Amino acid sequence: MDIKLLNQVEKESIGERQPLPEKYLRLSDDEMDARIAAAKKTLGERVVILGHHYQRDEVIKFADFTGDSLKLSREAANRHEAEFIVFCGVHFMAESADILRQPHQKVVLPDLAAGCSMADMAAPDQLEMAWRELEQMGIRTAPVENGKQGVVPVTYINSSAAIKAFVGAHGGIVCTSTNAAAVMKWAWERGDKLLMLPDQHLGRNTGWKMGVPLDEMIVWDPNEMWGGVTAPQVEKAKLILWKGHCSVHTRFTTAQVDVFRKQYPAGKVIAHPECTLDVVQASDDSGSTEYIINAVRNSPSGTTWAVATEVHLVNRLREEFSPDKTIVTLDPFGCLCSTMFRVSPNHLLWILEGLVEGQVHNHITVPEDQKRDAKLALDRMLAVRS
Ligand code: 13P
Ligand code: SF4
Repeated sequence: MDIKLLNQVEKESIGERQPLPEKYLRLSDDEMDARIAAAKKTLGERVVILGHHYQRDEVIKFADFTGDSLKLSREAANRHEAEFIVFCGVHFMAESADILRQPHQKVVLPDLAAGCSMADMAAPDQLEMAWRELEQMGIRTAPVENGKQGVVPVTYINSSAAIKAFVGAHGGIVCTSTNAAAVMKWAWERGDKLLMLPDQHLGRNTGWKMGVPLDEMIVWDPNEMWGGVTAPQVEKAKLILWKGHCSVHTRFTTAQVDVFRKQYPAGKVIAHPECTLDVVQASDDSGSTEYIINAVRNSPSGTTWAVATEVHLVNRLREEFSPDKTIVTLDPFGCLCSTMFRVSPNHLLWILEGLVEGQVHNHITVPEDQKRDAKLALDRMLAVRS
């Protein structure tokens, strides 16, 4: 397979990928599969491959463990026997694995260009500025005697290690789409209000499900002075939502829900909580990628589902459950996460053959000072029961 010729999306994004040595570019599918399998076999228990549900088929079939962000964080923290953790996902996931790994382990990401546009929407200097501005607005950012603080930072795992470190150092916690409600409950036990970043939609959807009125949620725009809000608005808010979003999940619309319901009156809609609130409200159910898989799996024979999440996962669900269940993507054009897609089988092969030859390409290393504080926030999350 020549990655330059795979399909139109590949062609358009080829310049964004991490370049590979020429010898990894023109390989047939069969040769690539055989060489990945052979390198994996040679490495044996020295390597564990983790694959997020949005990875493409040619890559995820080689994963030892697949999962959503929470499940993969737990796997990264528990696979002590492997010397190398190859993370087929995006950059923040590999960073989290590096923070949670054992000292003898190394984490690698097959393509360093596999980032996440949502994670990039919260920069550490923006968060520091927001924190200072909240203090200047009279919000207590440090715990007082009863252990409570005015605002507790909660960061979605889709954020950089530097953001997690800030959050960990300021009494905060990480959440994923699986445990957001349990984590937010934990945070409200420790503070009057939450600063939730970077995904406003996960924050709003979870807050809404937990019964927080919409007029007690405000959006903090890091590109505006004072977040674009006033001190009285902050004072009233229980939930301060960072103005960030997922460019994949915000493409789903309620109009698409209406079209699906007309075509399949008995069908059900399930949405990822990175979708907008109106889409989640118009859906029958919502949850993380792992939750979506289980909901489809446990539904009765003959159920029809429209799924509002990344298209590779939706296509696999369709293949796995057809013809017993009908699975369609809510967006007829299918929403693709182009950064998850950057991890190609060619990159995976380059990584694995490198390890066989004693070369660690794309070693992800979070600086020690960030690691200490980010680990506080991740460990707090892993201790929360959801
Ligand atoms: P989950 O797999 O944790 O639901 O997250 C989806 C996602 O967008 C990962 O980037
Ligand atoms: Fe980031 Fe959205 Fe892709 Fe997830 S689906 S990795 S949030 S851009």
